[in-house]
Amino acid sequence: MGALGLLALAVLLATAAEAQAGVTSLYRRKMEATADMPLDADVFRVPTGYNAPQQVHITLGDQTGTAMTVSWVTPNELGNSTVTYGRSPEKMEMSAEGRHTRYDYFNYTSGFIHHCTLKNLKHGVKYYYAMGFGHTVRTFWFTAPPKPGPDAPFKFGLIGDLGQTFDSNSTLSHYEANGGDAVLFVGDLSYADTYPLHDNNRWDTWARFVERSVAYQPWLWTTGNHELDYEPKIGETVPFKPFTHRYPTPYLAAGSTEPFWYSVKIASAHIIVLASYSSYGKYTPQWAWLKEELGRVDRKTTPWLIVLMHSPWYNSNNYHYMEGETMRVQFESWLVEAKVDLVLAGHVHSYERSRRFSNIEYDIINNKATPVHNLDAPVYVNIGDGGNIEGIANNFTMPQPGYSAFREGSFGHATLEIKNRTHAYYEWHRNHDGAKAVADSSWFTNRYWMPTHDDSN
Ligand SMILES: [Fe+2]
Repeated sequence: MGALGLLALAVLLATAAEAQAGVTSLYRRKMEATADMPLDADVFRVPTGYNAPQQVHITLGDQTGTAMTVSWVTPNELGNSTVTYGRSPEKMEMSAEGRHTRYDYFNYTSGFIHHCTLKNLKHGVKYYYAMGFGHTVRTFWFTAPPKPGPDAPFKFGLIGDLGQTFDSNSTLSHYEANGGDAVLFVGDLSYADTYPLHDNNRWDTWARFVERSVAYQPWLWTTGNHELDYEPKIGETVPFKPFTHRYPTPYLAAGSTEPFWYSVKIASAHIIVLASYSSYGKYTPQWAWLKEELGRVDRKTTPWLIVLMHSPWYNSNNYHYMEGETMRVQFESWLVEAKVDLVLAGHVHSYERSRRFSNIEYDIINNKATPVHNLDAPVYVNIGDGGNIEGIANNFTMPQPGYSAFREGSFGHATLEIKNRTHAYYEWHRNHDGAKAVADSSWFTNRYWMPTHDDSN
């Protein structure tokens, strides 16, 4: 082989090596600390009128979206828990009665928190709904999700660790501009616990901030560590107290016994929500439920199997490194066996997307404790980059592990656009590029219908 041939071979080999190497993006966001939006920021504005309903949000009220649970707060007095609704804003002739609750947290007493489930909705139909009295009536709308079916298209927003900083506001604005039908939220909502005495007023401000999206489309909630609000020093020993009073989940419809783990079926996707901060060891309720739940998945009707959790199993950042390891050891083999398409997590305040690989061979004596390429395994997406006050996690382990396809320490959000039973288009939007620029993207192929296609390199 001549010198030219050797050169050509070297270039070929270098190109092949490059195709295998993951990308650690060199992009660096502005380095100044992120700051919370001030209490008088317009996004936190209280609606006009005495006792006007505020903090309106919706989530699925059953497993497929023929029911929708509407929640809101009346700050001064009880009012009522009635929602009127219908197919046009002029003709909201149906009504549903809800319930209310409230809670104390140290020196804070919540407003009246209302939850009302609208039932017997028709898939794919737009509904208008309203609550409040006289001049404080507020009207919103949503479209019930399409009926579960193998080729029903749907666009999810993927957001985690949002908080209420100026960066959080960019993330939400960019998601709104990119347009999705529902949000898969992977935990850590308000960060109220980062304020003195877990200032629960920050749960109220957060709910007013996100109302502009979540009053119009369902968000599906995952519990993160910032939902625990466990603080024995001030006598608060009931974990998840503010979260459970404020954010219902359709767990009973999913055969679950706790609101923290459950499942829904939206369009062509079966979504399983796991709880990183509830017990998951063998024989625990969550363990028993997941075992049964994976048996209930019907890939012929809902080919896309997506799992949400807060603390990631695979994360090549020094921040929160290996915190998800015990849950991975408990459940990874089940997810690989079930050919899960995608696992979404938050917690680490940066972005990372993996290849398809698994680490399930290890049995404590066989030395097989190395992640290996595995086309039955999910792609892991770490999307804890919503923009909260704790700042960016920009301390990646070096060298980049072979399973990591792309990683970057920036804020942003992602969208997952399921096209049909075989293909879904995924994009990650870095905040600093504005809404429409895409910093990472991938076509995912379905593990049930295209199990031998490697979509993750
Ligand atoms: Fe977290």
